[in-house]
Amino acid sequence: MNALMIKGLLFAAILIGATIYVVNSMNIDLSDPINMITIIGAIAIAVLTVGVSIKYINQMKTDTAGGELADENWDGIGEYTNEMPSGWAYSWLGTVIWAFWYMISGYPVNAFSQIGQYNEEVKAYNAKFETVHKNADAATLTQMGESIFLVQCAPCHGTTGDGLSGKAHDFTGRMSKVQVLDVIAKGSNQLGYPMGAMPPMMAQGADAEAIATYIAGGMKGEQPAAFAACASCHGEDGKGMAGMAPDLTAFDETLVGNVIKNGKKGALGTMPAFHDRMTPVQIKALAAYIATLKG
Ligand code: HEC
Ligand code: HEC
Repeated sequence: MNALMIKGLLFAAILIGATIYVVNSMNIDLSDPINMITIIGAIAIAVLTVGVSIKYINQMKTDTAGGELADENWDGIGEYTNEMPSGWAYSWLGTVIWAFWYMISGYPVNAFSQIGQYNEEVKAYNAKFETVHKNADAATLTQMGESIFLVQCAPCHGTTGDGLSGKAHDFTGRMSKVQVLDVIAKGSNQLGYPMGAMPPMMAQGADAEAIATYIAGGMKGEQPAAFAACASCHGEDGKGMAGMAPDLTAFDETLVGNVIKNGKKGALGTMPAFHDRMTPVQIKALAAYIATLKG
């Protein structure tokens, strides 16, 4: 064994000893496989570093230049056409793969975030809320709906649901004449019903007036003949044929849910969308409460 080898082994022993010393003094839990793998990795790196260093130091002592020279030559300084060292190439490839893994499922993207934790907790809370109130009775729903309404909806619709003098939808009636005429003239395409959009200009002039008066009046009394144009989608009784188109007689859960999700732009103004800020039970509660506001 030559002197270099002995020095190398000594150096490796010092590195391993230092690793063991640090592990002991830091009280690291070795039953945790990640800790164990890390320590084995540290020892392997020490051994490999010393081994490879010895190999190359020995090689430098005895090696002579060899191999094929490239054609280029700068003032007598040439270049060998050696293959790329495979160890270097594999390390480079490995580093690239590791970098992608690290970015995507390692630390940065997959890291803990307060927003993420908040969202998780809201989701868990909502799920609990949904199961607790799944079979809530009408009185509970109405009460729940009232409190949500006072916070989220009253600023525009008024605490009594009267629509603040025509600034927003008045819940004491179904729809005003102005609103129905607006929909007849412009159509409707934002609520997200399975039937899709309603085309504009379904009726005009006196026909439109008669239909709007009839719908705004709660669809009572004699039905105007022109309503036939509407009945094909909204149904003879205006109830929307099993949720395919809006029920024109009541604020059912589908309408309230769709308006909350998509917002509504109409004759009175724009209602912002609440996207998915409400759970199904809350939407049901709002619909139950709004139904009680009917004058
Ligand atoms: C081709 C089928 C179809 C016909 C015919 C039709 N509608 Fe509609 N209507 C719809 C659909 C679908 C919607 C919901 C569209 C959306 O997503 O906004 C709608 C929406 C409405 C709305 C808005 C409801 C709300 O609460 O905002 C009113 C009011 C309305 N229709 C009235 C009428 C009247 C009045 C007629 C007859 C003149 C008529 N519709 C004819 C399919 C139809
Ligand atoms: C920023 C004001 C604003 C807020 C907040 C608001 N709305 Fe509205 N909402 C409106 C306006 C304006 C309209 C009338 C849109 C139109 O012209 O058709 C409306 C219409 C409606 C309609 C009637 C849709 C129809 O076509 O019949 C429903 C249902 C409704 N809102 C429910 C709610 C509920 C439930 C809340 C609370 C979660 C709420 N809104 C919060 C402004 C608001």
